[in-house]
Amino acid sequence: MSPKPYSIATLGGDGTGPEVVAQAVKVLHAVAAKFNLKFTLTPLDYNGDRYLKTGVTLTDEELEGLKKFDSILLGAIGHTDIKPGIVEKGILLKIRFGLDQYVNLRPVKLYPNVDTPLKHKTAKDIDYVVIRENSGGLYTGSGGVSMKGTTHEVAVQNMIYTWHQVERCVRFAFEYTRQRKAAGYPGKLTLCGKSNVLNYVFDLWERAMKEVGKDFPDIQTDYVHVDAMCIYMIDCPEKFDVIVTENLFGDIITDLAAITQGGLGVSPGGNINPQGVSMFEPIGGTAPAFTGLNQINPLAAIGSASLMLAHLGEKTAAAAVDQAIANTILTMKSMAAGQMGMSTTEVGDRVASEINLIKI
Ligand code: IPM
Ligand code: MN
Repeated sequence: MSPKPYSIATLGGDGTGPEVVAQAVKVLHAVAAKFNLKFTLTPLDYNGDRYLKTGVTLTDEELEGLKKFDSILLGAIGHTDIKPGIVEKGILLKIRFGLDQYVNLRPVKLYPNVDTPLKHKTAKDIDYVVIRENSGGLYTGSGGVSMKGTTHEVAVQNMIYTWHQVERCVRFAFEYTRQRKAAGYPGKLTLCGKSNVLNYVFDLWERAMKEVGKDFPDIQTDYVHVDAMCIYMIDCPEKFDVIVTENLFGDIITDLAAITQGGLGVSPGGNINPQGVSMFEPIGGTAPAFTGLNQINPLAAIGSASLMLAHLGEKTAAAAVDQAIANTILTMKSMAAGQMGMSTTEVGDRVASEINLIKI
């Protein structure tokens, strides 16, 4: 019987985005053949180039249209010829918020044979997941400016959280930690906050952790201030299993985490709405210096496709992609763009052929 196709929107986006998404698509084709799956792919040009031509970022109708897909695969958004913020807010954040993708899932895993700047740390020490709240905090746009251009100018940007937002994110984090525990991980969830200063917001987070935690007596919990977190992620990353945090803290610590796992070239991510349409995208940006050179590392995009497969329930296929990435890494010189010892397309080819070789 032929399988029901998954309908996937592919948004290459800007810079090197289209190049890395093309490799992820190549890998999805290999996965489809190997695991008898079917993907109907719809490429969409919501990006900076289109904005420069038409003045349109993403219309409300286009946002609505995205709701009919099973999932979205995105490269990167951001354009060197466009003032920062326009396409980021008008496309990327409009999708994250509009589709209520309230969890940003960012696994931090050092694969064997990948260089980390952390001396004395190896693959066994760096294997945790950051769950970044993705719908609130400082990203809501709440605030404003008055008396602009004068010495009395006032600029306000509010960190906003509702109980509802925090509760659902924390619940997702507990459930995710429980699933990992079933796979052999310690079953520990760490809240990363700043309760010594931002006492209103993180008091809410801490109470939500306690309240939701009652449903998860099997999960151990812990609290770390975000500044200390930056020390521990470098000094003792093995301390972590799953970290849950607010939006901007999550943005910042996942860039730090990315460099410990070999850089943005290998750092995947997913914007998840467990009840709706999710979008998978590498953490790294558009890498304008490498655009069109066939030198960018596509593994973060391919890893994001693996997260997408896991989210769609195709766990075996997701694990196969992960294994194929690990095998491919063994043949690469470096994870850095331009230094891989292979081109972007060669890395994609290699992952695809590793998938064909995997025994199931
Ligand atoms: C990320 C990016 C985005 C963010 C930008 C491009 C809006 O840095 O995905 O981490 O801040 O979330
Ligand atoms: Mn970021």
